[in-house]
Amino acid sequence: MKNSSLPIPFGWYAVAFSDELLAQEVKPLFFFAKDLVLYRTESGKAVLLDAFCPHLGAHLGHGGEVHGESIACPFHGWQFNGDGMCTSVPYAKNMPAKVQDKPCIDGYPINEINGTIFAWYHPRKIAPIFEVDAVPYLNDDSWQETGRVEWEMNTCVQETGENGVDIAHFVYVHNSVEMPKAEVALKGHHRVTTMISRVPHMDENGEFDTTGEKWEQSALSTTSCGPGMTYQTFDRGFVLFMQGTITPIDEGRVLMRWIFASPADQDESAAFYAKVVQDNVVEQVGHDVPIWEHKIYQPNPILCDGDGPIAKYRKWFNQFYDDGEPAPIRLVGTN
Ligand code: FES
Ligand SMILES: [Fe+2]
Repeated sequence: MKNSSLPIPFGWYAVAFSDELLAQEVKPLFFFAKDLVLYRTESGKAVLLDAFCPHLGAHLGHGGEVHGESIACPFHGWQFNGDGMCTSVPYAKNMPAKVQDKPCIDGYPINEINGTIFAWYHPRKIAPIFEVDAVPYLNDDSWQETGRVEWEMNTCVQETGENGVDIAHFVYVHNSVEMPKAEVALKGHHRVTTMISRVPHMDENGEFDTTGEKWEQSALSTTSCGPGMTYQTFDRGFVLFMQGTITPIDEGRVLMRWIFASPADQDESAAFYAKVVQDNVVEQVGHDVPIWEHKIYQPNPILCDGDGPIAKYRKWFNQFYDDGEPAPIRLVGTN
């Protein structure tokens, strides 16, 4: 539990891709250090609830069945809807007073957007205070998905995000030709990191120059929407879009998932280069993973003047830790 000094931040987190949850399908999940059940109602709505039945504690995700807009418990058939209200106790003459007119299971606000089911987590169940950004590329027929990849690892949400502003590691972990320049613009729940760097030249076979002699200038902007979602577009003669999501499994473990898309009419050679870059980005994060897995979180790091805007990033991220204040919580709006 090396990362457990940081609590789970509040925000929107991906719990599944939309196509992983068919109509009336039920899935057991474990995120936010909680057993959960995800289901899709007959009308197509995705619902996420705490997993355990308030009757006698069965896990709704193991054998539960969707009936209309509710899920029926596998143990004695009680039914619960997306608001956590009990909608049926099939064998009772009277509904118990404890379930009348009030929810009896905790649920999570859902926003299904970008081909992804996002759930809002807040440790005190405070309602969403920002929205998930729509990225048209994942909902648009003129774009096509070019890949998905995921990692489950022992780290926390704040640590993986810090990687983007930690400019020195690009030289030591990712073989960058030189230290990139990172500019960070912060506004409320948004963070835009622009990385200006020399990237190795790619030849017509998709091979990267490893001698350091041939390179190109690249400016890549990554937008973070809260702690759990980022997106970026590589545009260097080819176009490649990526949405990255990171979801806390518990305080010291995360699921990171990336989905890529390119314009469907991109010509063959641009599509080839886009695929090479996609594979390279995936390979590069593979070099970060063992460091994330084994490192500790340093709350008071000794930094040097070449380290990049790490302190600025931490100040921005800190707004997603619940401070116990009543909602709405103030979001950092500096620039
Ligand atoms: S435990 Fe769920 S209905 Fe009894
Ligand atoms: Fe990295």
